[in-house]
Amino acid sequence: MIPTREEAWSLLCEFNQSASLRTHALAVEGVMRHLARKRGADEELWGMVGILHDLDYEKYPEEHCRKAETILRERGWPEEIIHAVLSHGWGICTEVEPESEMEQCLYAVDELTGLVTATALVRPSRSVLDLKAKSVKKKWKDARFAAGVDRSLIEKGAERLGVPLEELISETIAGMRAVAAAIGLEGETD
Ligand SMILES: [Fe+2]
Ligand SMILES: [Fe+2]
Repeated sequence: MIPTREEAWSLLCEFNQSASLRTHALAVEGVMRHLARKRGADEELWGMVGILHDLDYEKYPEEHCRKAETILRERGWPEEIIHAVLSHGWGICTEVEPESEMEQCLYAVDELTGLVTATALVRPSRSVLDLKAKSVKKKWKDARFAAGVDRSLIEKGAERLGVPLEELISETIAGMRAVAAAIGLEGETD
């Protein structure tokens, strides 16, 4: 089976009604595609992993990652995608360590997209288009801001990937800019 982006998206939507979970999937897809383009990797594959990584989160939060593995395997999705999905929960809900470049990237940017989104939304423009890494760094230091975003996990991800945090933030912003309209972060447009 060689899956398509459309199949990944329709599977995600089948299991996730929540607008915020769908938006999160699109944000991570945008960043993964951006990183794949920059690294000369398979953009379609990286994008699908971004879309599907939280597939089971709405319906099976207690079995996060494990249930996604079952669903994807039952439906014949490639092992490469299943392994990547499992590895984003490394140390939290799985013991599957991120290994490939694709997995390292997913692990590093997943939580970071949340901090970038939260930072964009408290700015006057409510947009990611004019957001600077510097602003995200400032919010990074405020532990009460977007307190659910685990900074230490992002740091660990950046370190494993071998990319300085500042650069990872800039790349995450760039990837989210490419999908700004789809994730509701292009500011007020009326
Ligand atoms: Fe997750
Ligand atoms: Fe996620």
